[in-house]
Amino acid sequence: MQHPDGEIVLRVITMPRDTNHSGTVFGGVIMSYIDQAAYAHARTLGLHRWVTVMVERIEFVAPVYVGEMVTLRACTATTGRTSVTVRVVVEAERYTTGQTARVTVATVKMVAIDRQHRPIPFSAPATLGPDDGLNPV
Ligand SMILES: CC(C)(COP(=O)(O)OP(=O)(O)OC[C@H]1O[C@@H](n2cnc3c(N)ncnc32)[C@H](O)[C@@H]1OP(=O)(O)O)[C@@H](O)C(=O)NCCC(=O)NCCS
Repeated sequence: MQHPDGEIVLRVITMPRDTNHSGTVFGGVIMSYIDQAAYAHARTLGLHRWVTVMVERIEFVAPVYVGEMVTLRACTATTGRTSVTVRVVVEAERYTTGQTARVTVATVKMVAIDRQHRPIPFSAPATLGPDDGLNPV
């Protein structure tokens, strides 16, 4: 059965380098993961270049600590013509108890663009081709 917060799109383990001066994980690190999670979800809706146009909302509900397994789930909140608004929920598996805590919730708007950086309908056929990757495949 589908999880109400969507599929897992990213899973990471927090490291000492991720902390702020209070010893908890820096919000900017979590925001970076959220941005990646929104991209990962958007990419499932269209094989295009995607850019983040707006973080509509971000709520840090509870702290994240070093060494915790952090899971990001994403689902489509709304769609437009060229954009998809993605809801991202971040969970931390508490290191000592194994319990899952919802730590951050965000809403991120992604826009599909072409090679000239112009918005394109995200439901269009794939716009990435063999020349687009950084690695030869
Ligand atoms: C995203 C970008 C290409 C949109 O360009 P634009 O000229 O505003 O394009 P449009 O006016 O045609 O809008 C395209 C879509 O973006 C949405 N959009 C544009 N500006 C927006 C804003 N400020 N807030 C919310 N949505 C916005 C529009 O609603 C539209 O969605 P829709 O087609 O689903 O209705 C441009 O703003 C951009 O390049 N931004 C920088 C992206 C970036 O570098 N992100 C960080 C790294 S990934």
